[in-house]
Amino acid sequence: MLKITLATGNSHKAEEINIIAKEYNIEFVVPEGEFNPIEDGDNFLDNAYCKAKYASKIGNTELYLADDSGLCVEALNGEPGIYSARYAETPKLRIKKLLSNMQNIKNRRAKFVCAMVVTDKNGSILFKTQQECLGYIMEEEKGEGGFGYDPIFFVDDMQKGMAELTKEEKAQVSHRAKSLNKVLNWIKNEYNKK
Ligand code: IMP
Repeated sequence: MLKITLATGNSHKAEEINIIAKEYNIEFVVPEGEFNPIEDGDNFLDNAYCKAKYASKIGNTELYLADDSGLCVEALNGEPGIYSARYAETPKLRIKKLLSNMQNIKNRRAKFVCAMVVTDKNGSILFKTQQECLGYIMEEEKGEGGFGYDPIFFVDDMQKGMAELTKEEKAQVSHRAKSLNKVLNWIKNEYNKK
């Protein structure tokens, strides 16, 4: 069984990732204690790299996987983007702020983006990818599942709100699932064959 440190302090992400990874012979472990890397990159991939590098210093596995994700709204020039987690103080307030910034805006197209970076124990990048989940921002919240901006995001591929999807459905279409599948296939087809 290959153990990989998952560079996150977000238990929702760990849960979503483990649902997808369970078919592969891989165990994702979360670093012990506080996880507070400085994310000072100006794009998703750079910020994922900040987290992977930080985890590689405190963990003791062979590989480190970090993700950085966010919601990009077309009419707001890609905002909140890399600032999605910091857009307002709480998830409810972030949704409120976004809906209020989109009042009277007709173009509601948006996408969730997820960058993933895999490093070794030295913090050297072995693999990276960035995938998207397309949809639009609904006028009001729908559904009880998911986290973050899920209640206001309509998923094109499912024709339903992200928070209306089951965990298994979200694992088929989400930006995080798409990036993770690229990582898992790289491990299976390239890394494990070395
Ligand atoms: P990160 O933890 O630095 O990657 O920040 C990601 C932020 O983007 C989260 O705190 C959420 O606000 C938002 N986000 C990313 N992925 C999702 C998702 O799958 N659903 C809802 N919100 C998400």
